[in-house]
Amino acid sequence: MKYDFETVMKRYGCGSFKWDEMRQYGYSEIDDIIPFSVADMEFAPIPEVVQGLQDFISCAVLGYSSTTNEFKLTTCDWVERRHGYRPKEDWILTTAGVVTAFFNAINAFTNEGDGVMLLTPVYYPMYIGIENNKRKLVDCPLVRKGTRYEIDFDLFEEKAKDPNTKMFILCNPHNPCSRVWTKEELLKMAKICKENDVFVVSDEIHFDLMQKGFEHTMFLSLGEEYTKNAMSIIAPSKTFNLAGLQTSMVLIPDEENRNTFYKEQCTVTSHPVCNILGYEACMIAYKNAEPWLDEVLEVIAENKRVIEAFFAEHFPQIQIMDFEATYLLWMDWSGLGIDAKELERINREEAGLFFDEGYIFGEAGECFERWNLACPTWCIEDALDRMKEVYDKYLNK
Ligand SMILES: Cc1ncc(COP(=O)(O)O)c(C=O)c1O
Repeated sequence: MKYDFETVMKRYGCGSFKWDEMRQYGYSEIDDIIPFSVADMEFAPIPEVVQGLQDFISCAVLGYSSTTNEFKLTTCDWVERRHGYRPKEDWILTTAGVVTAFFNAINAFTNEGDGVMLLTPVYYPMYIGIENNKRKLVDCPLVRKGTRYEIDFDLFEEKAKDPNTKMFILCNPHNPCSRVWTKEELLKMAKICKENDVFVVSDEIHFDLMQKGFEHTMFLSLGEEYTKNAMSIIAPSKTFNLAGLQTSMVLIPDEENRNTFYKEQCTVTSHPVCNILGYEACMIAYKNAEPWLDEVLEVIAENKRVIEAFFAEHFPQIQIMDFEATYLLWMDWSGLGIDAKELERINREEAGLFFDEGYIFGEAGECFERWNLACPTWCIEDALDRMKEVYDKYLNK
């Protein structure tokens, strides 16, 4: 490996949500462990990005920013290079985060009381966006087949046909289930949404984090026929660990819809742009950090292999769901015969394992844990040792 994927930077007291949250729980050796919860990475910053930002700051005026043509071109170049599809530059608007973007979309394209469909379990802020904006959740549970999740298209169609259903928020790749929806699946969803006038918001934040053998299909690449009432949201934040810079891109092909979205942005703030360092870091990463991404994907794959081998030997009761993309491993721990709250307590207080608990993603996530794999492999190995020591006690009772 050319890059350093071994060093852990301590992040306590540095404004890290994940690390500060971990402090609340009573694990005595907390200083020596890292959390596996919130989806950012525990790797040293990318040298190209650090150097690029330093060069930029040394000669830039940090005044009010705007989205430049270079930024839009760089984004389109990236999408084309990694995903074989080129969006148009003038489709791009920027938002301070993907969550902000789908909150804006809910307000721009639906009204109070309207139904918004989700494939659940799913990334929990999607529920919050629906609830806080007084929309109705239209729940379309994914169907688990062994270790794989699939869509019940009959149910999907039934829910889309309800005249109150106005929007579908798609998570592709799916967090937490790690499915990369195939082109065939996307076309089926797109067709049903089109036929029933359901606006599609496609959250593709994890689109660069593909495991070997999987390919991401951009929703907008399905063609004009299906994308008139659709938008995609992408970002460099997961790919290059830049979430703190809050820079993401909304792609809306239809001009009228784009204006509607922009108008909604302008109701919240008079100047809807991202910060100047976020734009710069995104361009630097897209231009110079691709080799880092290719290596980090190998580390993530290796971390998954380490867990899988360990579980096969010591915890065959735990099932790992198919891992197609993201760096978030979705695991069913129900086979241990311990209820969800007790699992959480044992993990956090006794084993020092800070996962995102499955139930936060919806009822179907009960007794699941979501393990963030974006960390040095030695941290995973340490965690597995702690886990074995603690769970041997419970399982040998
Ligand atoms: C599917 C999905 N969308 C959005 C986000 C967060 O995006 P942002 O930090 O840009 O608001 C995450 C973070 O984990 C995510 O998994």
